[in-house]
Amino acid sequence: MVNGVGQMRSWRRIANVALAVLLALPLGLMLQGAQQEDWVLADALPPSGEAAALIMFAAMAIGPLARLAGGRSEAVRWLMRRRRNIGVVAFAYAALHLGIYIVDMGAFDLMLAEIGAPGIWTGWLALALMALPAAASNDRAMRFLRGWWKPVQRLVYPVVALTLVHWAILMYGWREPLVHVAPMLALYAAAVIRPLFARKRTDR
Ligand code: HEM
Repeated sequence: MVNGVGQMRSWRRIANVALAVLLALPLGLMLQGAQQEDWVLADALPPSGEAAALIMFAAMAIGPLARLAGGRSEAVRWLMRRRRNIGVVAFAYAALHLGIYIVDMGAFDLMLAEIGAPGIWTGWLALALMALPAAASNDRAMRFLRGWWKPVQRLVYPVVALTLVHWAILMYGWREPLVHVAPMLALYAAAVIRPLFARKRTDR
């Protein structure tokens, strides 16, 4: 039994380190890219945006995954406990993406001039909305917001829609954003559809 608990602890420790490495990987790759001779700051814009979007989709996929697994799997329970942190890391990459954009643009009036463009305001709005659930991703905020906590967390749904539009406009096509969001949407669909089939079977 003691051995089992010890094994579980070291399993969790390894998983924590693996997750931290995985989440830091996009940053590592960006820093590595920056070593290249012909590198310019704008080169870091697409990877930082992609990291923000993909990590956000991954954090969102954990909820339906847990519903499908029915809380039985220790790995899924571990992921559920990490979900908020993963969401905050997604926000950190989005903030980095904005920081790179601001430094690359280099002038406030240039940024203001293009803020009305659909590919740009969708990014600003996505980031502004994303900031709220990110700020509320701790126990103190949860206690403070009480009944409002869930609606605040649900802001991630419009953030996903805005991110997809932002991505599709700036990268001139829907294929890439849709391919990346598809696994998360498939998990949501499966989590909604499966109980309907289970109910039908018990009705018979
Ligand atoms: C704060 C406001 C934002 C601004 C001003 C902004 C700006 C930009 C710009 C200029 C690009 C084009 C990069 C290029 O053509 O090389 C871009 C791409 C992108 N952005 Fe944003 N962005 C913002 C917020 C966000 C947020 C919140 C997300 C996701 C959560 C995001 C995800 C992306 C993605 C996925 C791409 C396409 C990357 C690719 O596949 O190449 N952006 N953004």
